[in-house]
Amino acid sequence: TTNPKIVIAIDGHSSCGKSTVAKELAKALGYIYLDSGAMYRAVTLFALKNGLAANGQVNEPELIARLPEITIEFRLNPASRQNETYLNGENVEEEIRRLPVSTHVSPVATIREVREATVKQQQAMGKNKGIVMDGRDIGTAVFPEAELKIFMTASPEVRAQRRYDELIGKGQQVSFEEILHNVEERDRIDSGREVSPLRKADDALILDNSYLNRDEQLDWALQKAREVIRNL
Ligand code: DC
Repeated sequence: TTNPKIVIAIDGHSSCGKSTVAKELAKALGYIYLDSGAMYRAVTLFALKNGLAANGQVNEPELIARLPEITIEFRLNPASRQNETYLNGENVEEEIRRLPVSTHVSPVATIREVREATVKQQQAMGKNKGIVMDGRDIGTAVFPEAELKIFMTASPEVRAQRRYDELIGKGQQVSFEEILHNVEERDRIDSGREVSPLRKADDALILDNSYLNRDEQLDWALQKAREVIRNL
């Protein structure tokens, strides 16, 4: 007998540790992990590389016109056993985490045509269930029927500090103020946009992880998932 598989949607603010919990949860359950934000980041990188985004501005009509040229894939890196993001055949996993992408991704993610294309691909990847997907609209728009929805949050300062530590750890030159500003600005755009704004689904469980460590968060999520699977 095989265990029934479910869809787990994890939404929340930027840099609140969604991907860490989502990855560990997927691993513990033997599920696929999918980072939906990586898709918006890959589209943004395409825009930056093709002169369609600069100085916080995005050339929307031109980017929309060129969407058919964009192919995004996730391929397993056998060494790390993690999925990595490919843009038109090129591994962009590192580049999409850098500040130029981070500062242009929110306006790109407001574009309706961009969201339609990415959401369609996300739904196709989740159709066999057994998936943990994180993002902003997974429980509200991508998988409104997800069996388990988690809404994660933490204070902007806590999130900025984590992102700052992460980037400094990677040897990038950034200031805490710059990161905090970026976090707050993205919150504002993500929650205020017209198409699929960041919002907690009515049936999502809240996980505020300002003061929880990784193990505590994973235990909490795993317990919720097992409960749902048991009651199917
Ligand atoms: O989770 P992240 O920081 O990698 O997300 C990058 C951007 O993409 C962020 O501005 C929000 C947006 N996004 C979105 O609009 N919908 C999603 N499902 C995932 C991310």
